[in-house]
This record gives sequence, C-alpha cells and structure tokens, in this order.
Amino acid sequence: MIRGLLLGIIWMLFFVCPSFQKETTFAYNSFGQADDLHLDGSARILPSGLLQLTNATENQMGHVFFKRPIKFTSSESVSFSTHFVCAQLPAGETSGHGMAFVVSNSTDFKGAEPTRYFGLFNKNGSTSTTRVLAVELDIALAIELNDTSDNHVGIDVNSAESVISANASYFSDAQGKKIDIKLLSHDPIQVWVDYEGTTLNVSLAPLKNKKPSIPLLSSSLINLTEILQGRRMFVGFSGATGAITSYQYILGWSFSKSMESLQNIDISKLPKVPHPRTKRKYTSLVLDALLSLIAFVVLGLLFAAYLYRRNLYAEVREDWEKEYGPLRYSYKSLYKATKGFSRNEFLGRGGFGEVYKGTLPRSRELREVAVKRVSHDGQHGMKQFVAEIVSMRSLKHRSLVPLLGYCRRKHELLLVSEYMPNGSLDHYLFNHDRSTLPWWRRLAILKDIASALSYLHTEADQVVIHRDIKAANVMLDAEFNGRLGDFGMSRLYERGADPTTTAAVGTFGYMAPELTTMGPSTATDVYAFGVFLLTVICGRRPVEPGFLDEKRFLIIWVSECWKKSSLIDARDLSLTEFSSQEVEKVLKLGLLCANLAPDSRPTMEQVVQYLNGNLALPEFWPNSPGIGVLIPMALSPGSLSASYSSSTNSMSITHSVLYGSGR
Ligand SMILES: *[C@@H]1O[C@H](CO)[C@@H](O)[C@H](O)[C@H]1NC(C)=O
Ligand SMILES: *[C@@H]1O[C@H](CO)[C@@H](O)[C@H](O)[C@H]1NC(C)=O
Ligand SMILES: *[C@@H]1O[C@H](CO)[C@@H](O)[C@H](O)[C@H]1NC(C)=O
Ligand SMILES: *[C@@H]1O[C@H](CO)[C@@H](O)[C@H](O)[C@H]1NC(C)=O
Ligand SMILES: *[C@@H]1O[C@H](CO)[C@@H](O)[C@H](O)[C@H]1NC(C)=O
Ligand SMILES: *[C@@H]1O[C@H](CO)[C@@H](O)[C@H](O)[C@H]1NC(C)=O
Ligand SMILES: *[C@@H]1O[C@H](CO)[C@@H](O)[C@H](O)[C@H]1NC(C)=O
Repeated sequence: MIRGLLLGIIWMLFFVCPSFQKETTFAYNSFGQADDLHLDGSARILPSGLLQLTNATENQMGHVFFKRPIKFTSSESVSFSTHFVCAQLPAGETSGHGMAFVVSNSTDFKGAEPTRYFGLFNKNGSTSTTRVLAVELDIALAIELNDTSDNHVGIDVNSAESVISANASYFSDAQGKKIDIKLLSHDPIQVWVDYEGTTLNVSLAPLKNKKPSIPLLSSSLINLTEILQGRRMFVGFSGATGAITSYQYILGWSFSKSMESLQNIDISKLPKVPHPRTKRKYTSLVLDALLSLIAFVVLGLLFAAYLYRRNLYAEVREDWEKEYGPLRYSYKSLYKATKGFSRNEFLGRGGFGEVYKGTLPRSRELREVAVKRVSHDGQHGMKQFVAEIVSMRSLKHRSLVPLLGYCRRKHELLLVSEYMPNGSLDHYLFNHDRSTLPWWRRLAILKDIASALSYLHTEADQVVIHRDIKAANVMLDAEFNGRLGDFGMSRLYERGADPTTTAAVGTFGYMAPELTTMGPSTATDVYAFGVFLLTVICGRRPVEPGFLDEKRFLIIWVSECWKKSSLIDARDLSLTEFSSQEVEKVLKLGLLCANLAPDSRPTMEQVVQYLNGNLALPEFWPNSPGIGVLIPMALSPGSLSASYSSSTNSMSITHSVLYGSGR
C-alpha cells in the first residue's frame, strides 16, 4: 500500500512534474492567441497581437499576468529568467510615466496608484495585500522618489523607490562600452531579467542586438522568497500614465524558471509598433503627401516655366560675335520691348520678316525702335552677314534708317533699327488716299533716296549694294523724309540659299534683267531705283496683273505714253500742283535708269545731279535702245505675268524661270 503510494508519487513526479515544468516555460512572439494571460485596467491585446498596457489616456493602469502562478518546490531554488520586448511611445510634449516587469505574490493591486507608482505601489510603499519585486522602465522623473533621470531602469522592492537604478543604456560587446538608449522611443527595446541565488541582473539592448555580456543592473541582495514571503509567484507587467501619458506595449515575452530553458523570442515574428496618434498621423500623412504633391507640382511648374523662359529667351551666341558685344541685344530685352511681339506692336510684314514696334529703356528716357524678325534657317553665311550688318552700322547718312543692333536665335535673326513713325512709303503710295504725297514731297523723297543710294555706292568705305530698292523699303520719318532701310538684307538670302541654285534675290518688277546672270551690282540698284522712281510718280506698282495689257507693265506703259507724246499722262492722276516739265523730266530719268543695258544706266551720283537740276538729262527717245523694254529676248509679257504671283512679296526667280522658255 505504501509502496503503491510511493510508486504513485514517483509516477506523478515522473509524468506530472515535467508537464508542470513545461508550464513554467512560455514564450510569446505575439499575444494574438494568448489565453493564459490575465489582463486588467487599461491592458488590451490589440488585433495586431500587440499587448497594450496603456493607450495615452490620462491616469491609467494596466496589468498583465501569466494566469498561473510560478511555484517552486522546497527543494528547488527560486530562480527565473525572462526576456521581453517592449516599447513606450511618446504621446505629446512630455510623456510618462513608465512600465515595469513584475513579480508578485498576488495579482490583486487594489490600492495601487498609477503615475509614478506604476499601478503597483502607493505613497505607503506596496499595497497591504501584495508583495512586489519590480523592474521599472521609468520615463518620468519623480524627484521625491530619488529618480536620477526621466530615462532610467530600476529594481523596486515593495516600493516605487528603487533599490538600485541606472540611466537606460546597454553594454555593446562590439564597441566594448556603454551606449545610451531611449526608453521612450518608436524603436522597441529588449529587456532581460535574470534571477538566481540572490542576484538579480537586468540588461537592455536595441532590438537588433544580442543580450549584452554585462548587465545594466546587478543586485546581489535580492531574496525573492523573503520579498514574496513564499515560493509561489505571479509574473507579468504593469504600466501607468498620469497627467502625462504614453503608449506602452509588450511585443513579445519569454519566461522560464531557469536561464537554460528560456525560449528564444523570434524577433521577425513580433508585431509592429504602431505609430502613435494613428489617425492624426494618417491625416498628417495625407497632408504630407498632398504638400509634397503640391511641392512637386510647383517645382514642376517652376521648372517648366524656367525651361519655357529659357526657351523663350534662348539665343544663339557664338564666339566670333564677342567683338560685336555692344550691338548685341538680348532677346529678353527685345521680347519685353515689343511686349512679347504682341499683335498690338505689329507694324507690318516686310520683305524678309515681320516688323514690330518696340520700346527699349535707354538710361532715362525710352527709345522707340523697330524690331524685324527675319526667319533664317541656314547657319551658312550667318557670320559674314552679321559682320556686314555690323559694318553697316558705320554707314551714316541722314536718309538711311540707322541700324542699332541685332540678336540671333535659332532659325531667327532680329534686327533692331530706329523706329520710323510714318511707316513705309508703299503704304501711302498704293493706298487710295494719296493726298499725303503731293508732288513736292514725292520729289523730295526721291532726292533723299537717290542721295542715300549714291552714298552707299560711292561714299561709304566700301561699295554697298542695296539689292532691294522698292517703295516698301523706303521709310518715312516724323517729317516725312524718305529713309532707305533694309539694305543688304537680300544678301542673307543669297548666302543662305542652296549654293547649287543661283538664285537672284530682289522684288519682281524691280529686278534688272541681267541680275540672274551677272549678279547684283550698282547698276542693278540703279535699275531698281528707276522702277521705284516710276512707281512713286505714277502711284502704281511696277506690274499690275489686273490692268489691261498695255498698262500692265509700268516701264512699257510709260514709254508708250512718251511715244504717244503724252508722257505726262503716265503720272499719278491724283497729283496736283506740279510742273509738267519737271514730272516729265523725272519720268524720263526713271526710264533712263531702267534701261535694259546696264552700261547705259546713269550712276546714282548722276541721278542725284539730274534730280537736283545740276545736270541736264542726256538726249534719248522712247525708241532708243533699251528704253521701255523689259526683257532682252522675245518673251511674251503674258508668260511673265503667269509666273508672277504677288506684287509685294519678295521672291527668288531662278535662272530657269526667266530664260528657260526663251532658249
Ligand atoms: C484607451 O483605452 C480606454 C479603455 O481602457 C478607452 O476608453 C479609450 O477610448 C482608449 N483611448 C484611446 C485613445 O484609444
Ligand atoms: C497609507 O497608510 C496610512 C496608514 O497606514 C493609511 O491611512 C493610508 O490610507 C495609506 N495610503 C494609501 C494610499 O494606501
Ligand atoms: C501577499 O502578501 C501579503 C503581505 O504579506 C499578504 O497580505 C497577502 O495575503 C499575500 N497574498 C497572497 C495571495 O498570498
Ligand atoms: C532619497 O534619498 C535620500 C538620500 O539618499 C534619502 O534621505 C531620502 O529618504 C530618499 N527619498 C525617499 C523618498 O526615499
Ligand atoms: C542620468 O541622466 C541624467 C540626465 O539625462 C544625468 O543628469 C545624470 O547624471 C545621469 N546619471 C548617471 C549616473 O549617468
Ligand atoms: C549577473 O551578472 C553577473 C555579472 O555579469 C554575472 O556574474 C552573473 O552570473 C549574472 N547572474 C545572473 C543570474 O544572470
Ligand atoms: C532567503 O530568505 C529566506 C527566508 O528569510 C531564507 O530561508 C533563505 O535562506 C534566503 N535565501 C538566500 C539565498 O539567502
């Protein structure tokens, strides 16, 4: 019987004790499935598996205990080992109060207070019913409890005042020194508490680290049996808030009666610490996203604006232009001067591009300029052209429109010249109301242009051929003086053109017949001047496709009138108050200049003298060779008018057009 009882006891020891032993070892990598925990106060298990002791609400206490007490037989020495991962997250400017690992003889904490007492103690020390050993992770400074800082770890025995404490830190084996650690942090902290004999060791470390070889706290004067007054204990956690709060979490927990049987916590399986104030954080996240989106958009717009402006004001500048520095206008200044080449500033479409009025600030007063935009695709010849344009700045004659400078852009050249308030002559000449152009004024303009051209041909440093004399290129200043503009422009086109085609440039009707074969010369300018002169006196264009055959070509018609002894009838019929003799003389001069044979044309110097009456016109008749003839060969005027499209546009007539049908 006794033997049987003994056997029973042995059986029980053999089978029950190991299972009991098993129960005193547990590990939680998450608390989602934990049903052997006792929770009270504000303690919660969150859906994420996180154990929350307090949730940033004031004056809270939360307790969590392993439901079953840990018991030690009389033969066993009292010892335990625990490892847990916790986090105390700030909630506001200052946070508190702290949490603790608890070993107690009871889970009853009636009379315990929150705040600095962790829900474990009160002013008197421990509550009357419960004996407590606690490892506090204190994040608030309680002077009256002799706290050393607001970030310390302490061992408490039946009182909130620590037996031993130290600022939170861990020993880094890798670096061989103590490293401070923040208890109040989004980064979880690992804590190890080991008790054996009368020694209680406490170690901390960041989540990634291993257990330090040297504990933060080590007290060899802890007799747990004495403290608890028994060999039975509850283990768990307590957290508390006061006027200052925090979020307190346990992420994982492993406990065992002995260090050897302590199970590892799988750090990778631990629940994530939520960001505090999730809602506000969410809105602030949304706000952040929105702000960064706005910032992104704004940056994008700024960049686009920068690119746009850079592109808007982009210029082509080359090294060789440096010497022309002062002549170079920035595109930006021209853009601004013309109000962005606004339609309101549009003056007209010249032979080579659009002309805009611009107002440039010049030291104090504003200066009015005309800006011509010449589209130009070929870089070819640009250098010489700009050089010529620049050299033409040295040309100074009262009847030339002064060129002030230029600007180059991709595919575009901008020429800045003085603004002529009364625009171009053709505007008045080919309008129905020609009253602003009485005879005397027309004669004066002809004299102006003749002298300007004479100057270009003879007095300038080098011979300058205008190449495009026509009413549209004669500008009128404020006093209606004629000013010759656009000189040299045609050269840009000649140079820019495909070098395999020999294109002659000018305006149809003003182009001397030999231009396509011989190229431009002073004589071709004289020819063009002759035609121009006739247009001024006759008030019509050199070719009028809508007119009757006999009247269609100005030169032919004028000479026909002369043949019929009614030269004066060729004049602009709106002219009044003129001397017939003078008009006839000027008309004859026009025919003389437009002589088919270049050698028979006068020079511009002579033209000036004829106009001023200093020289008598040579004797010639309407049927003199080259007078009143348009083309050297029998090319019917009909075919000419067919190839003719517009009377105002400058156009290139290639060799084949003029001579192809004649061969
Ligand atoms: C905190 O927990 C308490 C219950 O303990 C609850 O009444 C309160 O709403 C919670 N506060 C927050 C901010 O979650
Ligand atoms: C502290 O002890 C005194 C006397 O023993 C008692 O009256 C008082 O209620 C206790 N305070 C707390 C907070 O338990
Ligand atoms: C815990 O210890 C206190 C103080 O000795 C005692 O009053 C209380 O009854 C004990 N509680 C349990 C559950 O043993
Ligand atoms: C704080 O420490 C001082 C000196 O070490 C001691 O006199 C005092 O009693 C302690 N305060 C408390 C509340 O125990
Ligand atoms: C603990 O930290 C506080 C403030 O952070 C400091 O004043 C104090 O000297 C530290 N104590 C020790 C022992 O390092
Ligand atoms: C406590 O730490 C000391 C010093 O590092 C060590 O010698 C001792 O074995 C430790 N005790 C426990 C129970 O971990
Ligand atoms: C702890 O205290 C108890 C009761 O006072 C005593 O019997 C025991 O020997 C002590 N243990 C140690 C390790 O000193």
